[in-house]
Amino acid sequence: MLLHIPDVLTRAQVVQIRQRLDQADWVDGRATVGAQGAQVKHNRQLPEHSPVSQELGQLILDALAGNALFFAAALPLHTIPPLFNSYTGGEHYGAHIDGAIRSLPGGRRMRTDVSCTLFLSDPEDYEGGELIVTDTYGAHEVKLPAGDLILYPSTSIHHVEQVTSGTRVCSFFWTQSMVRDDWQRSLLLELDQNIQSLRARVGDCPELVGLTGHYHNLLRQWSEL
Ligand code: NI
Repeated sequence: MLLHIPDVLTRAQVVQIRQRLDQADWVDGRATVGAQGAQVKHNRQLPEHSPVSQELGQLILDALAGNALFFAAALPLHTIPPLFNSYTGGEHYGAHIDGAIRSLPGGRRMRTDVSCTLFLSDPEDYEGGELIVTDTYGAHEVKLPAGDLILYPSTSIHHVEQVTSGTRVCSFFWTQSMVRDDWQRSLLLELDQNIQSLRARVGDCPELVGLTGHYHNLLRQWSEL
């Protein structure tokens, strides 16, 4: 599932975050990747444990906590504190796959099931910089308005095209889902969205109670906590 979630952040939140990020000290993005990633990664990142990264990351986690579509799509169990990256002057990130396991604060480990990129630059602020995600249906090009998020399975190979002018600033993070399998998560999201639109159209009825029960019973079968 490749899902665009609009307006995760308000325009005011984007401006607030960008003001802080534009004054921050960035480091080489290769600080957080393994050997394969280090060969193809050319960008800058905010140091993972810096106070500004933690503060802005918390702001994003709070916004996600109130986002019903993110919850329905990701079915999050754990989400790492969001990180921040910046591409300018020809920087890019070649084809790679995100590491399967990451550490949470306090040292606990989590599995990465869902990858997210939250755009903090508008498309007209830079040339290039498209996120290209490859799945069984081919390659998908993603470049979203600031404040919007793309969610995709962490099992996908992806890359970021060269930024040939301007600056592309994003936040990125991973979630361990209560439902490990991408296809099962897609089925649950589709069922949930159909139940909601049916309820808006016809109101509550016994069939909708049954379908809602079906949703929860599938979640009960497939979730791991
Ligand atoms: Ni990646």
